[in-house]
Amino acid sequence: MSANSPQSGEAHPLRLTINGQARSLQVYPWTTLLDLLREQLDLIGTKKGCDHGQCGACTVLRDGKRVNACLTLAVMCDGADLVTIEGLAEGDELHPLQRAFITHDAFQCGYCTPGQICSAVGLAEEGRACTREAIREQMSGNLCRCGAYSNIIAAVEEALPLMRAKANLQGGPRA
Ligand code: FES
Ligand code: FES
Repeated sequence: MSANSPQSGEAHPLRLTINGQARSLQVYPWTTLLDLLREQLDLIGTKKGCDHGQCGACTVLRDGKRVNACLTLAVMCDGADLVTIEGLAEGDELHPLQRAFITHDAFQCGYCTPGQICSAVGLAEEGRACTREAIREQMSGNLCRCGAYSNIIAAVEEALPLMRAKANLQGGPRA
C-alpha cells in the first residue's frame, strides 16, 4: 500500500510553491515530502535512497535551505517555497552546477546526482564553503555509492563562484 493511501485520519490542505508553481494539495499527516514529490506530483528526479536521512539522495531546497525530503513531513511545508532538481534549469539553460557536473564527469549511475546538486545549491546559499576541504566537509551528508567524490567536489568548486556572483547580482544570498 502506498504511503499516501488513506487508512485512517484525514487529509490536510497544503499550499506551497514548487519550482515556481503555486499548488494547493491534500496530504495525509504521515506523508513525507519525498513521497509527496514522487508519488503525488510525479517529480521523480528527487531520489529515495535510504529513506532514513542517511544518504542525501532526497535533498531538496525549502525556502533556499537544503533539507532531506525523507525526514520532512509534507504538512510541515505549508507556505514553503520548494525547489527540486526539476526546477533548477531556466528553460533550455542548465543551472551552472548541472553544467559543471557534466564538464567534470561528476556522476556514474547518477542516482545521487539530483541530491548532490540540490545540496550544492543550498551550500552556495549558505555562503560558507570557500575551500575544497570545506566543500567536502559540508557536502558529506550526500553519499555517492559510485565513489565519484573527487569529480563532484571539483564540479561544486567550479560552480560555487558562478552561483555566488549570480546571487550578488540578484541582491545577495538569503540569510
Ligand atoms: S533518502 Fe533521504 S537521506 Fe536517504
Ligand atoms: S553517481 Fe552513482 S551513486 Fe553517485
